Amino acid sequence: MAGLILDRVTKRFGDAAPVVDRVSLDVADGEFLAILGPSGCGKTTLLRLIAGFERPTEGAIRLGERLVADAGTHVQPEDRQVGIVFQSYALWPHMSVGENVGYPLRTRGIRGAEYKRQVAAALDTVGLGAVADRRPASLSGGQRQRVALARCLAMSPGLVLLDEPLANLDVHLKASLLDQFQHFRARTGATMLYITHDQSEAMALADRIAVMAHGRVEQLAAPETLYRSPATEFVADFIGMGGVVEAILPEPAAAGQAWVEIAGHRALVRAAPGQAAGAARLCLRPEDLALATEGLPARCRRARYQGGEWLVELTVDGQDERELQMLAKPGTVPEPGAAVRVRITDGWVIPQSC
Ligand SMILES: Nc1ncnc2c1ncn2[C@@H]1O[C@H](COP(=O)(O)OP(=O)(O)OP(=O)(O)O)[C@@H](O)[C@H]1O
Ligand SMILES: [Mg+2]
Repeated sequence: MAGLILDRVTKRFGDAAPVVDRVSLDVADGEFLAILGPSGCGKTTLLRLIAGFERPTEGAIRLGERLVADAGTHVQPEDRQVGIVFQSYALWPHMSVGENVGYPLRTRGIRGAEYKRQVAAALDTVGLGAVADRRPASLSGGQRQRVALARCLAMSPGLVLLDEPLANLDVHLKASLLDQFQHFRARTGATMLYITHDQSEAMALADRIAVMAHGRVEQLAAPETLYRSPATEFVADFIGMGGVVEAILPEPAAAGQAWVEIAGHRALVRAAPGQAAGAARLCLRPEDLALATEGLPARCRRARYQGGEWLVELTVDGQDERELQMLAKPGTVPEPGAAVRVRITDGWVIPQSC
């Protein structure tokens, strides 16, 4: 097993802006960390740096106690004991499923009965013992992805890197493979780094999530912390529903709470210690808001039925460009354009340092 430490890792291609920009991560031994961010934010490049397919321009990477990359060090990918599962499966079409899974064993000189035992064990873990003799082309997408996982498992890696492994699969296959990943992790105790742009996958699997934007880690925290206490407006928008509005803090935060004023209305919300008085931005999730006779003056833009409840989109008076979302029960849903009052039951002041 191996933890992973990235210390201010930067990657530049030519003179362009860095694709990975001073990323520091400390992943514990056996932790499942998701890296979540929009297309082009540098996720795959970060994974390639960790695997050893790219060299960092600056910074250092450690696997467990071992320095694998810095200005003067570059340990080759095959010497890093890192397993990788790509979105594209990367299986060899001319080999059977069993041969694909056994390939990393053969390159390590494992032969005979031991080779057969390890291939069978890896295939059993992903429930594919019965198709060992078939070619990858005759399998479904989900089965191929499980073969790729079994091949990774056969290497007994201390660190497993998964780059959008479910991106090509339908909803049901995704759910079953999410279970396989949990099983894989429980069985091996491996440290796992899971790259995705799908927040529900990240939330379902990860101990912690690193949210990336423009090559930088915006916030690294447990899923619930990202949702309840986003460090930046980007994280507030990217994770979960709801919205961000402008507010004024008449006084500094105290004991984790602050009064905020929005459109002449006052509410008590959560805030980081040391949050100063003055202009601020407030993150409000749908469950933080309720229609009421008194409260924040707002206007309904539209409402969408979500099964059971309606999702109502609204704007606060004087902040037309900022949209909020809240839930409403059937029979209480305002008409588009209607003026409403909204009670704020909770909220989070986005820290001003970010
Ligand atoms: N070898 C390279 N040379 C030049 N630019 C590169 C190279 N590899 C990646 N980039 C650039 O780095 C940026 C980040 O790419 P990367 O593949 O890491 O993003 P990503 O977060 O994985 O995106 P996606 O979600 O679409 O897979 C992109 O703008 C890409 O064009
Ligand atoms: Mg990518």
